[in-house]
Amino acid sequence: MSPNHKLVILAPSILAADFGKLTQEIKDAESAGADWIHCDIMDGHYVPNLTFGPMIIKLLKQITALPLDVHLMITNPEQSLEWYIEAGADWVTVHPETCQHLDRALVRIHELDALAGVVLNPGSPLSLIKPVIGLVDLILIMSVNPGFGGQKFISNAVHRLQEIRKIIEKSGRDIRLSVDGGITPENAPLVINAGANVLVAGTSVFKDGPKSTIPEFKKALGG
Ligand code: DX5
Ligand code: ZN
Repeated sequence: MSPNHKLVILAPSILAADFGKLTQEIKDAESAGADWIHCDIMDGHYVPNLTFGPMIIKLLKQITALPLDVHLMITNPEQSLEWYIEAGADWVTVHPETCQHLDRALVRIHELDALAGVVLNPGSPLSLIKPVIGLVDLILIMSVNPGFGGQKFISNAVHRLQEIRKIIEKSGRDIRLSVDGGITPENAPLVINAGANVLVAGTSVFKDGPKSTIPEFKKALGG
């Protein structure tokens, strides 16, 4: 697999979807122009919230052809990488603090034929990325503290995106730069100008239904 070269990717986070009609929510997002589906896996340990596991990834794979962007907020993700990738994860993103051996985890994701990402929390040093820059296909800058949807965008994410963009350019590698938390059509241009090319958005996409909100994002993104 190779990274998707489309300019700006919109990745709705299903954390904010209505799970009582998940199939319809996904189909609506897909037909309105979503590019990827972002899946937040939370274990109640690393983050104070509990969501879903590989069974839902498997279900999503049957519902949609869109790439599944799986954000693991779980302790010891190395133990379950295989579950998520076998279930259909295309991208797997891990938090460095949760991995016993980050380098090994990223190598393992590639061995299992998925694309590998690393997430940096608002309080994590950007330098964490440097030793593994040669192994990542995506860097995710959190613009809220992980664990919940519907939080307020933390504005220092803008500076952090600019700094990571420089690191990516210097590496010469094809690495996606994603931003997650409190993203709306209003702040989308700000984060894109700072270097992001994947926007993860939950509440702002699903609160009024993807059919009406995704076109607002597309307008903000200039298309
Ligand atoms: C938070 C998650 C996000 C969340 C974003 O830990 O990683 O993906 O779903 O939700 P909003 O867009 O509502 O901030
Ligand atoms: Zn997420």
